[in-house]
Amino acid sequence: MSALERLYAVLDDIDIDSFPNEDDRSRAEDLIMDALVRVRKPWDIALNHNWVNPCTNAATKTLIDVGVFRKWVENGSKPQTSVELASLTDTDPTLIKRIVRQLAAQHLLIETAEDTYAPTAWATTLGTDPSFPALYGTLYHDITAVVFGGMPSFLRKTGYKNPIDDKNGVIQHVKGPDTSFFEYIIADPVRTEEFTHSMECHSKGSMVAWPDVYPTNTLIKGAKPGRALVVDIGGSKGHDLEKFRLRHPDIPEGSLILQDLPGVLRDVHISNKIISKCPYDFFTPQPVKGARAYFLHTVLHDWPDDGAAEILKVVAAAMEKGYSKALIHECMVENIKPSLRTTTSDLTMLACSSSAERTVKEWDALLSRAGLGIVKIWKRPAAMEGVIEAELI
Ligand SMILES: C[S@@+](CC[C@H](N)C(=O)[O-])C[C@H]1O[C@@H](n2cnc3c(N)ncnc32)[C@H](O)[C@@H]1O
Repeated sequence: MSALERLYAVLDDIDIDSFPNEDDRSRAEDLIMDALVRVRKPWDIALNHNWVNPCTNAATKTLIDVGVFRKWVENGSKPQTSVELASLTDTDPTLIKRIVRQLAAQHLLIETAEDTYAPTAWATTLGTDPSFPALYGTLYHDITAVVFGGMPSFLRKTGYKNPIDDKNGVIQHVKGPDTSFFEYIIADPVRTEEFTHSMECHSKGSMVAWPDVYPTNTLIKGAKPGRALVVDIGGSKGHDLEKFRLRHPDIPEGSLILQDLPGVLRDVHISNKIISKCPYDFFTPQPVKGARAYFLHTVLHDWPDDGAAEILKVVAAAMEKGYSKALIHECMVENIKPSLRTTTSDLTMLACSSSAERTVKEWDALLSRAGLGIVKIWKRPAAMEGVIEAELI
């Protein structure tokens, strides 16, 4: 076998199960991405950025909207022709054929015979996980795609200054002067639902589960009776508290408190007595005092330094010195070669809310503005996110 044939054989054989853990999987992903840049002509790269990606999003969203992925799974996920896929969803076979062959041409569907397609794990997940299709919904179609579209003209207008004013940033430039990211989402129940689904999905699919990196048993060990154990501030649908509850199912009722804006919590249904909902605006005094832990997951990255410091000061005012912890679950931008997800998230923060992902040094400086000091950072070496454990100093 020639070296080239060996290379083809390795590439042909590789899949998500080829790696012993997530760190190795993401290292391989980065190497493959590096190789792709070297293998592609500059023209191919530009084609992918500007034609393939928007086209793929539109194709996928259309199949989601007509129910192709859901019906395909309900029908046993077996290989189907485009005519069969169209008949499952009562849609035009010519249209469905044009769409599915664009996805198959980039291996998102597997063409097993002429005009016959098998679903990949991606396609199956779009049919089985009710929150996954939301990734193609409001947040990306209506917000990030649109604000990224307006980012170059906003930056040109402002003389290429790094935006730090959440009331005068890219989102106001494209959506109107009085718009703020969360107000825009909360103004519409469909946007709110799709956004919270997206958050749940991020939590399931792309982020490390916090009880896997932080020793949550230490919170229970030192807990004072009658006090809240974990207050999840800006906790969306409660997916992070649910991870804690599943890890520690015997904790007392009412120990875990889910806080978010009333418009978000209105449609969140909790089916156990351990987690309770508490509608709350985190710029107002924290109603739950002296909890064992105040947990904020990808909340502070939505705010420029002044807003984030304000949120932290409110948390600090509710904490009991020597007992309460602030647990900040966020990205920590690596000083060298930060990952694509981190850097993309950083620019997303820039465009959506004039905020940023932060380095450990920047987190330290921010926490100290609220009288908090870092006790320890809990993070896997290759993970984009970790948990910063902080206390009152
Ligand atoms: C990026 S999401 C993170 C959600 C969740 N912590 C997670 O990691 O999946 C930020 C959350 O902050 C909430 N939020 C925004 N402004 C808020 C405010 N003023 N008070 C309380 N929650 C707020 C949003 O509704 C949203 O659920």
